[in-house]
Amino acid sequence: MLLLLTATVGGAAAVSPTQGVQPCVLELARRGNAAPSRCGASALASAWPNEFHEPGLDLIALRLAEFLERNRWPITGMLAICVLPASLIIGLLKSRALRERDEAFRTSEARLAAGADLAGLGYYEIDFPAATCFVDARFHEICDIPAGHQQGLESIELWLARVHPADRERMSDERDKLHDGRIDRLSIEYRYLHPVDGQKWVHHLGGVSTRAASGRALRTHGVLRDITAQRRAEFDASELRAQLAHAGRVTLLGQLASALAHELSQPLSAILRNAEAAEMMLQAPAPGVEELRAIVADILSDDQRAARVIERLRSLLKRRSLDPLPIDVLDVIAVVLALVQADAAARHVRLTFCATPGLPMVLGDRVHLQQVLLNLLVNAMDAVDGSALDQRCIDVSAHQVDAKNVEVRVTDSGPGIACDCLSRLFEPFFTTKSTGMGMGLPVSKTIIEAHKGRLWAENGPSGGACFCFTVPVAGCGGRRDP
Ligand SMILES: Nc1ncnc2c1ncn2[C@@H]1O[C@H](COP(=O)(O)OP(=O)(O)O)[C@@H](O)[C@H]1O
Ligand SMILES: [Mg+2]
Repeated sequence: MLLLLTATVGGAAAVSPTQGVQPCVLELARRGNAAPSRCGASALASAWPNEFHEPGLDLIALRLAEFLERNRWPITGMLAICVLPASLIIGLLKSRALRERDEAFRTSEARLAAGADLAGLGYYEIDFPAATCFVDARFHEICDIPAGHQQGLESIELWLARVHPADRERMSDERDKLHDGRIDRLSIEYRYLHPVDGQKWVHHLGGVSTRAASGRALRTHGVLRDITAQRRAEFDASELRAQLAHAGRVTLLGQLASALAHELSQPLSAILRNAEAAEMMLQAPAPGVEELRAIVADILSDDQRAARVIERLRSLLKRRSLDPLPIDVLDVIAVVLALVQADAAARHVRLTFCATPGLPMVLGDRVHLQQVLLNLLVNAMDAVDGSALDQRCIDVSAHQVDAKNVEVRVTDSGPGIACDCLSRLFEPFFTTKSTGMGMGLPVSKTIIEAHKGRLWAENGPSGGACFCFTVPVAGCGGRRDP
């Protein structure tokens, strides 16, 4: 509307008083046709598009021009009165919109900063073409990098140089992937060497705000979170678990000690007997070399037998963390069955074992899984202790339950588990034995859960108890067992 008015005023101004509108108008009115070319009305009329060059319209245009000419000053005054406040209002509205936009921006920035602060996140931005960067106060706190806008990328170089040498390559690889456009988002945990606080663990999330047409990152931003406390708690938990598991193994082996001593004494006394025989033979004037050779071979094989028993004990007695690798679950079962063999024989327990052929490798820690199975077998032997000598049976079986899990079952012919005990079996210190500690099953459960498996108990249909656990099948990309 304002534009239209301005255009009209412009049109009126084109009709110069020196060109004498009045005569032209009269002339046109007389002839009812186009005005002479040099008159102002004609100029106005010719400014109209061709299709409006109707005689009637031309007349209206001339009348309008005449009206405008006659009331030029009042109209100009009126327009000035209208236009000035209008442009003033527009200016005011514009500056208010700008102010509101600034305010909204500041509010959103403040919200972002508050959120980042609550989440303990340090924020950074890097502009590669401009070679500038920005880090906020929290980022400074975490990394000891000067806060605020920085000219040059030295701060970023400093930050990279302080990434722990063992993690730097991994970190740089991920960063390169983000910058090349091979990944959209960076999410990585690494150690950072803070000059004052020492080593920290940080979780770094990064993204790209602008990329070049080639895909290369031009501007990046991200957040850093100090996860040192969380890492320490995780470590403490795993350390505690390792200590508990170790204590459990020592206790278990204590229970097996007499049977193990017996197992060890057999090859040792065989060695002694063979050595005595060899000594006697050597006293003869012409000792038989072949017989002596056979004796030495026996001594060697008994020595190896004893060494195997000691090795099994040593690996269980060693303190170690849980380190899952692709392993054969049948190896685990074989070692444990060999360990309890002597004890089972002494207690008149018949041990049987069956497994479905072609079991896949599982992802597990050999020693920790041995500990679980050993614990279940010792419990099962305790459970069948009260049965008649010829009815003490324990069966161990292994089969694949689904594509992802292998299940191991230990079934005994004991009295089973009383209903009121079933729900409490895995509680720490729950025991029904006079000399029990009640730690075997809780520790076993922790170990199996650390393997992302499941351990549970049920009563078998024929009366005894059945303890089962699952371990995940090793993925194709798993590490090889050294
Ligand atoms: N095979 C089993 N049959 C019956 N009860 C069992 C069996 N295994 C474990 N239990 C019960 O679970 C309890 C806890 O076992 P565990 O945690 O190994 O501690 P502990 O052997 O020191 O008692 C045992 O005291 C026993 O009551
Ligand atoms: Mg036990």
